[in-house]
Amino acid sequence: MTGARNIVLMGFMGTGKTSVGKRLAERLGLSFVDMDDVIEEEEGKAISRIFAEDGEARFRECERRLVERLAARPDTVIATGGGVVLNPRNVEDYTRSGLVVCLSATPEVILGRVAQETHRPLLAGDGKRERILGLLESRQALYDAIPCRVDTSRMSIDAVVERILSLYRSLPPG
Ligand code: S3P
Repeated sequence: MTGARNIVLMGFMGTGKTSVGKRLAERLGLSFVDMDDVIEEEEGKAISRIFAEDGEARFRECERRLVERLAARPDTVIATGGGVVLNPRNVEDYTRSGLVVCLSATPEVILGRVAQETHRPLLAGDGKRERILGLLESRQALYDAIPCRVDTSRMSIDAVVERILSLYRSLPPG
């Protein structure tokens, strides 16, 4: 890590990155950025439309370019999209920019959290459980490679925030 003190939340869909990130930013008086929101704003369309009309590869390019910009700015809490770990350069850049925390949850908890939602293209339609299990299996090693991890399955948002705050405050001065 360099001097920039960001907190970057990674982890699978439905693990709490956005809810936790917003509250963390409030507690620390830092700005909050949700990567998916920025990509939607800049592309002028919803993530599901980017996937459908331009393809996942185009979305990953947008994601990559945004990581390069966000990793260069200080004092920000960043909620990444669940697939940001797919490109190792994303993880490297964010690791240099601050504290990277990977949130996790059991497949059952993830399913419960995303069941009523329709905005995630990778989980659209029927068979959500199988998709979650398949994606988790293919990405598990990438999430597990992040040294700081918090399992949010049985924790309130505030409890997760407290855990991350104590990790953040225990870092040596940057
Ligand atoms: C994705 C996760 C989504 C979003 C896109 C792809 C993924 O973000 O970036 O739908 O590949 O896991 P959330 O994790 O915020 O749902």
